[in-house]
Amino acid sequence: MTDRVKYLLDETRLPTTWYNLAADLPVPCPPPLHPGTLQPLGPDDLAPLFPMALIQQEVSTDREIEIPGPVRDVYRQWRPTPLFRARRLEQALQTPARIYYKYEGVSPAGSHKPNTSVAQAYYNREAGIRKIATETGAGQWGSSLAFAGALFGIEVQVFMVRVSYDQKPYRRALMETYGATCVPSPSPLTQYGRAVLARDPECKGSLGMAISEAVEVAASHPDTNYALGSVLNHVLLHQTIIGMEAIDQFETADDYPDVIVGATGGGSNFAGITFPFIGAKLRGGPDVRIVAVEPAACPSLTRGRYAYDFGDTGHMTPLTKMHTLGSTFMPPGFHAGGLRYHGMAPMVSHLRQLGLIEARALMQKACFEAGVQFARAEGILPAPEANHAVRGAIDEAIRCREEGVSRAILFNLCGHGHFDMQAYTDYFADKLTDQTYDESELAMALAGLPSVGS
Ligand SMILES: Cc1ncc(COP(=O)(O)O)c(C=O)c1O
Repeated sequence: MTDRVKYLLDETRLPTTWYNLAADLPVPCPPPLHPGTLQPLGPDDLAPLFPMALIQQEVSTDREIEIPGPVRDVYRQWRPTPLFRARRLEQALQTPARIYYKYEGVSPAGSHKPNTSVAQAYYNREAGIRKIATETGAGQWGSSLAFAGALFGIEVQVFMVRVSYDQKPYRRALMETYGATCVPSPSPLTQYGRAVLARDPECKGSLGMAISEAVEVAASHPDTNYALGSVLNHVLLHQTIIGMEAIDQFETADDYPDVIVGATGGGSNFAGITFPFIGAKLRGGPDVRIVAVEPAACPSLTRGRYAYDFGDTGHMTPLTKMHTLGSTFMPPGFHAGGLRYHGMAPMVSHLRQLGLIEARALMQKACFEAGVQFARAEGILPAPEANHAVRGAIDEAIRCREEGVSRAILFNLCGHGHFDMQAYTDYFADKLTDQTYDESELAMALAGLPSVGS
């Protein structure tokens, strides 16, 4: 069939392993450092926060890591996810490009995040952990961990960045429906939160602050672990199921992407769709351009410094080498809450240093314009974060039109926006602003980077 619009894989074709890009990297990633000694971190340093199975995945160089049966059983509820050919969008754009999108919004929580929350909850349950504390920006990650906690009998406590908590009351309701608790961060529940509130009672919060609160809770309770929804190697690993399925689906379509576009907050959905393709290329497979798209209001990959920095604002986490705006960087309260993180995943940052990926920063209004155009053509309403990938893909398709060439463009539609209608309402009311920074504004938070030899 030449006019096919969706490529579905049967449940039996669900991948049995995750793909680990560390096995194929030409140069290994710089190691994380202990914040006190500045020496490379050992497994025991992470043991108060994570189960050993996840710590091992964090440092593994095995190419394939088996997905445990109970995790695959949960994945089967919505995976494999569909790969769509965006024929109506192609028509609307009058482009010769072949546009494809992998739709992760079909998961119970509405995004790619359950790919890792289910795995993390499983390994924690296996290690006898009773409770997990975490942060959430957009609320997608908090909902996803709450869902996974309900399945594996783990209590979940979510610190939700205050600005998102106020913008998205129904995300909190969803977390509570799954049995989790959700408090706005900074909160009076932790020493760190109380200190922030004492300085600024109206503080809108940031992902870096919410991480500090969740880490504090986990570090001070032996039966409680911490879980992160992005950035870390094991999180990126769990997301690679997206790209592995996509490779299979492109085979069915008898096509192969020329360019892949993903939105980047901490880097996990981007890694999920691109790493299997990057790995194939590094092993001698087809060339493919890879484009990371981030908000101009939080431009870690395009304007951050590649340096060792803390993952959180309270400086409780290890130091990782990444593109960072500085751990005290406070992004404005724009609507793509999941993209308001000061740093980028070390592995994604490393790829940028190696010249294996490109990065672009986009204004939020242009992203919403693309999201609305996409919704009117394809019917699916993207999450504000996903709109960055939609804009990036549409721009690539317009280039194809201008150059008169047909390229296959793949992007990750990483979540739906059904809980983000206030953002769309504000966009239609022309209430959104585009934020840019001059160098001196960015220099302020960067001045506080920890000093590490190289
Ligand atoms: C729908 C959606 N997309 C993207 C992101 C950004 O995270 P990451 O870059 O890890 O995919 C988030 C984070 O909350 C999200 O909710």
